[in-house]
Amino acid sequence: MTTADQRIREQFPLINTNSAIYLDNAATTQKPQCVLDAVNDYYVNHNANPMRGLYDLSMEATAAYEDARSAVCELIGAERPEEIVFTRNASESLNLIAYSYGLHNIKADDEIIVSVAEHHSNFLPWKNVADHTGAKVVYWDCEPDGSFDLNTLHGLINEHTRLIAITQVSNVLGRVNDIRAVSDMAHNAGAIIVCDGSQSVPHMKTDVKELDVDFFVFSGHKMYAPMGIGVLYGRYKLLDKMPPFLYGGEMIESVTKERVTYAEVPHKFEAGTVNAGGAVGLAAAIGFVKDLGYPLIEQREKELTKHTFDAMKEMKYISIIGAERAEDHMGIIAFKVEGVHPHDVTAIFSDEGICVRAGHHCAQPLHKHIGIMSSTRVSFGVYNTFEEADRFLEVLAGIRGRMGIH
Ligand SMILES: Cc1ncc(COP(=O)(O)O)c(C=O)c1O
Repeated sequence: MTTADQRIREQFPLINTNSAIYLDNAATTQKPQCVLDAVNDYYVNHNANPMRGLYDLSMEATAAYEDARSAVCELIGAERPEEIVFTRNASESLNLIAYSYGLHNIKADDEIIVSVAEHHSNFLPWKNVADHTGAKVVYWDCEPDGSFDLNTLHGLINEHTRLIAITQVSNVLGRVNDIRAVSDMAHNAGAIIVCDGSQSVPHMKTDVKELDVDFFVFSGHKMYAPMGIGVLYGRYKLLDKMPPFLYGGEMIESVTKERVTYAEVPHKFEAGTVNAGGAVGLAAAIGFVKDLGYPLIEQREKELTKHTFDAMKEMKYISIIGAERAEDHMGIIAFKVEGVHPHDVTAIFSDEGICVRAGHHCAQPLHKHIGIMSSTRVSFGVYNTFEEADRFLEVLAGIRGRMGIH
């Protein structure tokens, strides 16, 4: 282990104290001390209900919450903090868009294009919109190497297309999609694009203006922040026209028996008491990512992925899902071990204290498209090391033997 590894790892209490080799970072990441301290400090020193009191503590809580919004705005290059809505997670953000934008703007005979690699969170909300409106969901299938052919998309877009839903990085394929090209095609057709950044924001610099996306979402917990805080970015002019998603406290301007006027964006989308502690934790996680810097995070994760991928390619009974090149896997490698069910693969890893994920990874249409039911997935975070990758490879090499297959 290098001193650089050590310096990063010592910031993560669980990584330090637990002997497990944690390689399920696409599901959620461990939390650094600075995030835990920030949440603790918020509750020990500043907690009150934000936006509700005119006393000091409430104003401190409000300031901490709004500072977090500004930190997210800066991280993803939004035009203004009002374009950032805090939610519970990426799933809630996508549901908010589907309910609030989709149900009011998509009509019978309209078409919604969804990439086949979407997490169910960026598929089911659109299926629900289609079911309610009579619109049609059209699938954009990927190529055998997990890439998405823009010519295929060109063939799917027509005068009925209203929305394209696509992930920047799939949680199974790990490949970075050309979101800017998809945005341009959507806009040329008069449609909008909804981009899922859940697996990109933790690992690479993203800029919503450069990507020219209309909506963009991610979860805090996959980028070293606490669970329960998620982000929805939306273009101001779209958010402004959308009706609220949830109704209740704090999202109104005024209420009489006869008439309600709603608060301005983003507050009209944040009904009820907000997760200020989570937002503060997210701001601290953003600080952590910025201090390390995306170039370093990317470099470490790319090196680990390449090291692992290249060794796996040499193993005769392993088939990797998606691209043939390590460079096209953003810290994520999903694979099959011939003759062994992914649940058995994962159980053997678990026996050895290695945490990897088995199943369909909430991407059943993708698995079906590839012709499999499930896979095992290893995914890296910034604190993982070559020693951990080597131990993973060592156990992987012995799995068939342990199942009695020789
Ligand atoms: C690509 C992608 N989108 C969306 C989600 C949903 O995230 P959450 O469960 O935090 O809402 C995940 C979670 O694994 C994901 O990988």
